[in-house]
Order: sequence, then structure tokens, then C-alpha cells
Amino acid sequence: MPLTDQVALVTGSGRGIGQAIALALAAQGANLVINDVDAASAQVTAGDIEARGRQALVSGANVVDEAQVEAMVEAVMERFGRLDILVNNAGLTRDGLLIRMKEDQWDLVLDVNLKGAFVCTKSAARPMMKARHGRIVNIASVAGITGNPGQANYSASKGGLIALTKTTALELAPRGITCNAVAPGFIETAMTQQLAEEVREGWMKRIPLARAGTAEDVAAAVCFLAGPASTYVTGQVLVVDGGMVM
Ligand code: NAI
Repeated sequence: MPLTDQVALVTGSGRGIGQAIALALAAQGANLVINDVDAASAQVTAGDIEARGRQALVSGANVVDEAQVEAMVEAVMERFGRLDILVNNAGLTRDGLLIRMKEDQWDLVLDVNLKGAFVCTKSAARPMMKARHGRIVNIASVAGITGNPGQANYSASKGGLIALTKTTALELAPRGITCNAVAPGFIETAMTQQLAEEVREGWMKRIPLARAGTAEDVAAAVCFLAGPASTYVTGQVLVVDGGMVM
């Protein structure tokens, strides 16, 4: 298996897309660090990983808190002695029209989606630089490429994440570390199941492949960018959206 003995840390992997990414990396042979502020859901994902014969370490660190993230990376090094793959997946939305958006809606989304990726990348980069090897994959969004009404905060955070991906790729390339982003489109998760039927139908009309994406569709792209088939790919944004944005 391509990722045998490697260690992958996936933020926000208690549920949804992060959980699917963790399970897919485990299926490729990796041991996993399951991080989520919802520690109970992280335990469930970790149980699924162990049931597949891989090791799992659970961390309830908040990705925005540098001290908690550094302690998490230290715990990873103590337990496994290596960190090969970081997937910055933790994210959230607080939608609203720009003219009504409150400062705290803006701050929370920028904090978790953008600062969280910066904090985790900074901590994870140290052991990766020492090993002169590492893969970082950031989960962005098509909203970070096109913008999206009602998501000034979210689209700015994901656009920023794409820029962070490129700078990280440039700074860490000399150390043998790649950094890429996956930009999902409309993916079937708890986040999107809450949308009204007419909003869902509006999205469907814009998708050439005529279906919503699955968390597994996103996970497959992450496995490519975390695995041996993409050693010469860095600073790129892989859009996984059924052709919606092209
Ligand atoms: P979700 O809400 O189902 O899962 C996100 C997980 O992140 C939750 O378990 C949550 O507890 C955790 N989390 C939130 N804040 C955290 C923090 N500060 N520290 C650690 N963990 C934290 O969301 P979903 O749909 O699985 O999304 C995952 C990623 O994919 C997000 O970055 C999202 O922006 C992105 N995305 C999702 C799309 C969709 O259609 N669902 C489309 C494009 C991008």
C-alpha cells in the first residue's frame, strides 16, 4: 500500500469530508491523527480507523490555538516519531449578506478556516523540514475562486487559503515538502443537507456531471496529492466539483 507506515494528521476529521479523508488515507496504509474540537466524534472516527487495522491518535485541539496545536504535534512525534501528511480540513460557515454581516461572523470564519491552517502548517512544518519530506493538503472551496453571495467571510477565507497554499509551496519546496489545495464544489455533507430544496436545485443546474459530490470524491483527490503519484505537483488547486467551475 502506498502510504504504509506513514502518519497523517487530518484536522476536523470527526465527521464529514475530514472523516472520509482519514478513512481513505488509512485504507492506503497510513496511521492517523484524528483532530476535532468535537472530541467525541473524533473518538468514533478513531475507532473506525483501528477497526481497519491502523493506529489512531485522537486530539481535541482547536486549530486556532497555537499552544494546543503545538502540543498536538508534540504528542504525534512522541507516539509515532514522524509526521508525513497534514490535511487542513477543519472549517465552518457563518453565512449572511455582506451588509448585514457581524464582525464576529467574519472573525470566526477567518480564524478557523485561514488562521487555523496557518497555525497547523507552522507546527507540522518543523518535523517535516527535519525529515526533508512532507505533504500538506489544504481543503479550500470553489467559493474561494469565484466568490459566493452570502459568503463574504467564507469565500475570503478560502481565497486566502489558496494564496497560503502557494506561499507554503514556495517556502517549503527546498525542503522536499509539497503543498496543494483541493477546492470542492457542492458536496453532500451535514453542512449542505440543511439547505432549502430550491437552493439545492439551483446548485444542481450548475453541475455538468449532474450530481452532488461525495466526501469520498474529495478524499480521492487528497489521496492523490498526499501519495506517491504526485511527487512533482506543488502549489496547485485541484477543483473537485463535477465541472461546475471551469
Ligand atoms: P463539517 O461541519 O461536517 O465538518 C467540519 C469538522 O471540523 C467538524 O467535525 C468540526 O467539529 C471541526 N472543526 C470546526 N472547527 C474546528 C476547530 N477550530 N478545530 C478543530 N476542528 C474544528 O464540514 P464539511 O462539510 O465536512 O467540510 C470540511 C471542509 O471542507 C471545510 O473546510 C469546508 O469549508 C470544506 N468544504 C466543504 C464543502 C461542502 O459542500 N460540504 C464544499 C467546499 C469545501
